[in-house]
Amino acid sequence: MKFQRRTLLASAAALAFAAALPMSAMAQKKIVLGFSQIGAESEWRTANTESIKSASKEAGIELKFADAQQKQENQIKAIRSFIAQKVDVIAFSPVVETGFEQVLREAKAAKIPVILTDRAVNVKDDSLYVTFMGSDFIEEGKRAGNWLVEKMKGTPGDVNIVELQGTVGSAPAIDRKKGFEEVIKADPRFKIIRSQTGDFTRAKGKEVMEAFLKAEGKKINVLYAHNDDMAIGAIQAIEEAGMKPGKDIIIVSIDAVKGAFEAMMAGKLNVTVECSPLLGPQLMQAVKDLKAGKALPKRIVTQESIFPMEVAAAEFPKRKY
Ligand code: AHR
Repeated sequence: MKFQRRTLLASAAALAFAAALPMSAMAQKKIVLGFSQIGAESEWRTANTESIKSASKEAGIELKFADAQQKQENQIKAIRSFIAQKVDVIAFSPVVETGFEQVLREAKAAKIPVILTDRAVNVKDDSLYVTFMGSDFIEEGKRAGNWLVEKMKGTPGDVNIVELQGTVGSAPAIDRKKGFEEVIKADPRFKIIRSQTGDFTRAKGKEVMEAFLKAEGKKINVLYAHNDDMAIGAIQAIEEAGMKPGKDIIIVSIDAVKGAFEAMMAGKLNVTVECSPLLGPQLMQAVKDLKAGKALPKRIVTQESIFPMEVAAAEFPKRKY
């Protein structure tokens, strides 16, 4: 009898607990963020992925991470799958600027806010995303150009430049070219004699630089690479051609990853313009603010610097990526 009463009491308590569960479970429900990453094309991208993954853990946000392997179709698929899974927020770094309008409309119709990180999209209706956080790529191109103009002051004759562009159609490739050209066009001595994509990878950077060297040889005075990885690949090609990178050919690149500092300390790269991949903490804060109903600024610009080879050894120990 006693045993039966105890069992009944225990079951009643269990029932009461179960009834209360949905409320407390709801209160503790984690925010779910779907993030579509471009791929793993560069040292920069690896650091960016790591920043987003560790920041989500720290913030207690559940991260659904998809790697698009540098293909836009994979990003679109990932975003559609996030919509189907009803995530709370979608964030992505668009591989190229155009072609995302339709899928962004689908996210909007599903009432899922979208945050752009690192790269922008080119859409007529900017209500399709909440905010865009990342670098000012035009400014990075200008910084690279200004450094070069200063460096070449007082040197006689033409300055023949070869350019390794980033992924065709991507915001950093378009804007870094634009910013750089805006600066160098003021002096007719500066000429871009060859310009081709190296898709932001070391392997492609090397391959395209080999072709530039074959076509132009000793005519080349400067290499402008849209990222450090392509510059590092190109350094190898220059050495294999029997020339001295950083001396026979001045090398200007962008990102400021550790690999670039190592190349600068070895005297093989002249300058790198900073582009920070450490966007994770900022992204998680934005996600939390959004869920708390706070308004976000439409554009959040990362503050960055520039590092010539002369400061590389002193700066290297402080680098986080
Ligand atoms: O979008 C940022 C660019 O993408 C970085 O400069 C480059 O290294 C990366 O692949």
